Amino acid sequence: MVSPKLMLGIGLMSGTSGDGVDVAIVRFDGGKIALLATGFLPYPAILRKEIMQASQPDGEAQLICRLNVELGKVFAAAAMLTAKKAGISMDEIRFIGSHGQTIRHQPVSGKGKISSTLQIGEAAEIAHMCGCLVVSDFRPADIAAGGCGAPLAPLAHHAMFADEKQDRIVHNLGGISNITWLPAGCGQEKVAGFDTGPANMLIDLAVSHFSKGKAAFDKGGKTAMEGKVDKRMFGYCMAHPYYSEKPPKSTGRETFGADYFGEILKRHKKVGKEDFLRTLCAVTAGSAVSQAVRFLKPQKKFRWVLCGGGAYNNAIVAEIGARLEGRGAVSLSGELGFGEKSVEPVLMAVLAHRTLHGLPGNLPQVTGAKMPMILGKISLP
Ligand SMILES: Nc1ncnc2c1ncn2[C@@H]1O[C@H](COP(=O)(O)OP(=O)(O)O)[C@@H](O)[C@H]1O
Ligand SMILES: [Mg+2]
Repeated sequence: MVSPKLMLGIGLMSGTSGDGVDVAIVRFDGGKIALLATGFLPYPAILRKEIMQASQPDGEAQLICRLNVELGKVFAAAAMLTAKKAGISMDEIRFIGSHGQTIRHQPVSGKGKISSTLQIGEAAEIAHMCGCLVVSDFRPADIAAGGCGAPLAPLAHHAMFADEKQDRIVHNLGGISNITWLPAGCGQEKVAGFDTGPANMLIDLAVSHFSKGKAAFDKGGKTAMEGKVDKRMFGYCMAHPYYSEKPPKSTGRETFGADYFGEILKRHKKVGKEDFLRTLCAVTAGSAVSQAVRFLKPQKKFRWVLCGGGAYNNAIVAEIGARLEGRGAVSLSGELGFGEKSVEPVLMAVLAHRTLHGLPGNLPQVTGAKMPMILGKISLP
């Protein structure tokens, strides 16, 4: 469909944290990718609030319908601002890949049950405002083929971080946490990965609770660094049944959102703010490391590569380091050429690029789909 070897694409990502739009401008040279520029457009507090409202089980159709268009315009603005700052004209951009904002994600299996997922942020708005072809809505094609629709990151993690000599685990710390297993020298068929549970989702809810809505996240993990892990609360959280489910699996705000946070809070009223946050960081780290060991069974020393906003939370990083117990060394993705907040938007550009070349974007062994699928929908300017 698209022939020239060398082309520029933009990737747009807004994850379950609902913090804003991460942008990456990527150069594709055949199969090789290079990151040219990054940007971040934070959502105004009111927009974040409305996204959380729309993500509730009783989210109103009226609100979701309006947000769909409003978010499309915000995504377009984020793309154009990043290009402008980088001195790149939108005329040079061949395509945009946009994930959209997840409002619902309910992959279920079993007779009579219907798996579904919903990302909004109207691609027609992005295509019109940016004057550029947009590939969006990547998850439904995987769900149609019987998959969870997530995680989609492992394929791009392979392109960005696979190493000939070293086993690697890429750990994305968004609202939700997902890991990708890249054994040394592996092809795509050996890549494994799954969502491990919450990363920042519960931490952000706790920060908002303790600050009475004044703060949205624990910058640098400063408060958590002042606390200690509460053993009882840690034990309660780690007993969540999701952690023992076998992959393929994915999860979201439906399982680890406000209701679950309320339950933890109700049972651990005496735990102070610092210890509460530290314990949640330990749960993010502990659940990811224990599932990596249990389901991926690494045999040699590996590199544990951190990306996503949670990589800036020193308490999460410290807890991961401690829980690896010498099995692996921790690096930030930036040390390997892709800044922590750029990995997910690069992924969106990679998926769009593959779609435009008629290549599949899911890994069936990761999502549980019956077959590789060409993902996404195309909107023309
Ligand atoms: N400097 C920071 N210190 C600690 N946590 C941070 C920092 N920056 C971002 N975060 C956390 O990362 C989250 C956003 O990460 P991101 O990778 O964008 O997740 P998502 O894909 O879910 O949107 C924020 O909600 C916050 O919890
Ligand atoms: Mg985000």
